[in-house]
Amino acid sequence: MSNYLDALKGKNEDRIPVWFMRQAGRYLTEYMEIKESSSFREMSHTPEIMKEITLQPLKRYDLDAAIMFSDILTCLEYMGAPFKFTDSGPKLESHGTEIVKNLTPLKPEEDLSYVGKGIQLIKQEETSRPLIGFVGAPFTLLSYLVEGGTSREFFNTKRFLMSESSAAVSALDHISTQLVSYTKFQVESGVNAIQIFDSWGGVLSRKEYEALVFPSLEKLVNQTAQHGVPVTLYAQPSSHLLSLFARLDVSAISVDWRQDISDYFKIVDSVRAGIALQGNLDPIVPTLNWDLAKPHVDSILKSIKQGGYQSRFIFNVGHGLTPKTNMETVASIITHVHQS
Ligand code: CP3
Repeated sequence: MSNYLDALKGKNEDRIPVWFMRQAGRYLTEYMEIKESSSFREMSHTPEIMKEITLQPLKRYDLDAAIMFSDILTCLEYMGAPFKFTDSGPKLESHGTEIVKNLTPLKPEEDLSYVGKGIQLIKQEETSRPLIGFVGAPFTLLSYLVEGGTSREFFNTKRFLMSESSAAVSALDHISTQLVSYTKFQVESGVNAIQIFDSWGGVLSRKEYEALVFPSLEKLVNQTAQHGVPVTLYAQPSSHLLSLFARLDVSAISVDWRQDISDYFKIVDSVRAGIALQGNLDPIVPTLNWDLAKPHVDSILKSIKQGGYQSRFIFNVGHGLTPKTNMETVASIITHVHQS
């Protein structure tokens, strides 16, 4: 019995589920305390700490799902691309198109056994609320491999896609194959749902996305769905990609804040009726005081009610919570959405 899992099936009759992308970490004082004595690597590679940080937001708030504490980049070092998290974000030890052409296979049971162990510990302690596992989408991971970190322009990634298309497409396909085995391992370890983060996919035109990126994404999404759990797909900006995503075996699509949520429902329903949507709150809103945040939350809830989408909507942010998130506003948002 979970309103989150029911909403993914389009059948939620309970209160609207709420969870937040990047809910574990960054803005939580209890996370900062752990961070004082441990590096990100230690935190994400130690099953006990992974469990503790995953469950911190669920202890503080009445959230409807947990997301495992890890990172989309964690698997890259086992594919031949080691990196570090620095104060200015992730930095790959070496990067560029040569690295991308020489990626090695991932062996999740061996390489990421600590993630499997962490998932088991989380499931032992939190027995009612579902646990979300995740991977990055092939394009977003490719962008880190090529650029060496988070990028503004994705200059080199786009040039690689446009000038060496067949090498880029085969790298995307290789990444996709590794990720399918990683999502399988997460499901076997106990996660109840998978989210795929194509955080930077929206920087491509729809035409390029469809021609170059979509085949590897389709393989990842559709084969992950075969593992027997619901799959949510996230990208931002979202609107130009939604009707492509609706062709995939997704239970839900996680959308940004740039358009009204009912407009997003209309786009996906025109391709395949019944897909759930998640998101839509601008991540700046939870940094505001509640009196300023409330109208933004209300406008989403009003649109959902008017459109009759309550049974297949999951309240969330349109991109991750930021480090400046106001912890009290988060509590007020959750209560308000649940009471709506
Ligand atoms: O959602 C959660 O709460 C679970 C954990 C999670 C993290 N990263 C922990 C993390 C998830 C789902 C991610 C996904 C992730 N990681 C994405 C996709 C989602 C998105 O936000 O677009 C991306 C692009 C990354 C890459 C990444 N990891 C960056 C750019 C950074 C540095 C900047 C930052 O703080 O986000 C990270 C580090 C990271 N991953 C932190 C956390 C809590 C911050 C570590 C710290 O300094 O405390």
